[in-house]
Amino acid sequence: MQYQHGGSPQSDLARFGLKTPPILDFSVNLNFLGPPPIIKQRWMEFFDCIVDYPDMGGRGVKGYYEKKFRIAQKNILPGNGSTELIYLLPRVLGLKKVVIIIPSYHDYARASRQAGAQISYLPLTPDHNFAFPEQDKMTVALQGSDALWCGRPNNPTGNLFSRQAILDLADKFPQKWFIIDEAFIQFVGNYSETSLLSSEIRPNLLILNSLTKFYAMAGIRLGGVIGHEDIITRLRRIKEPWSINGIADRLCYLLPNCFPYEDKTRTLINQARMQLEIHLEKIEGIKFFPSAANFILCQWNRTDNLDHLLRHLLINGLYVRDCRNFTGLENNFFRICIRSLKDNNLLINALASFSIKEIFP
Ligand SMILES: Cc1ncc(COP(=O)(O)O)c(C=O)c1O
Repeated sequence: MQYQHGGSPQSDLARFGLKTPPILDFSVNLNFLGPPPIIKQRWMEFFDCIVDYPDMGGRGVKGYYEKKFRIAQKNILPGNGSTELIYLLPRVLGLKKVVIIIPSYHDYARASRQAGAQISYLPLTPDHNFAFPEQDKMTVALQGSDALWCGRPNNPTGNLFSRQAILDLADKFPQKWFIIDEAFIQFVGNYSETSLLSSEIRPNLLILNSLTKFYAMAGIRLGGVIGHEDIITRLRRIKEPWSINGIADRLCYLLPNCFPYEDKTRTLINQARMQLEIHLEKIEGIKFFPSAANFILCQWNRTDNLDHLLRHLLINGLYVRDCRNFTGLENNFFRICIRSLKDNNLLINALASFSIKEIFP
């Protein structure tokens, strides 16, 4: 499997030998509103932070999770994006054999492999809309393993696996780790009830959260892992110091008060998702999968090669995430990030205007 993230239109433009106008990028799953306006307004205040070493414990990040999710500081380990923690966990936990539900985010496997763990994939299928496996199947799959990785909502399928199903498994297998990535949870309408962050802390449950997607701050790098204080203490001992930079830590104090921005984000994305689904339904040769997140997984069936569509979109200044490098999605799957109604309309029009004559003139 090729290691690749979204947001690289230049490589596809080069691959197709195209020069096009500026690209509207639907391949990266960030909040299309951009960062909360208050960050820009107060930006100059953060300048002072560049001189001093930042707080080693990420005090601002912990304060955010405490205020927003009512999590005690002893249960939080901040990270330089959730990525730092995805890589820290298998190393510190000493994982030997992990189960990864796929298709899912590449870095669960990469981080596990780098820590020396063996990987057992548990594939979900499009025929069942990539639904979470039944408990019996999970029980069999988890045999002999010491951890399960999964995302909720899962990237790139968009499913929000049942919170209860995961908690039941965590309770049933107290000796195994359950590492649940909730990087996109705040895009979900009733996120505060549905997130595992509002469940009781369990010794074997680790919840990853990211602040880079929802607050559109991928360049700032902010996230955290939430779990029992014993494991958080172990992780903290091993983690490199100062990985949360001073600016990132300080601007976290502004985030818990961004209610209007947060509500607007969820309302607009919800509306835009419904609008996109109505239109996608009518476009010949595209199948989409229901999503709880700010992105939608689709499959291209109009021709036998997704490149035909990717090229057509790039010519129209639009870029989507080619998902063929995800195991299980080789058959012409792609993912679109939900943007504004106006941007989504551009995408819908471009998808609908594909003509077979472009390939067979
Ligand atoms: C499912 C998922 N988890 C985690 C991450 C890492 O996010 P970050 O390190 O920016 O918090 C990503 C990034 O794309 C992602 O898609």
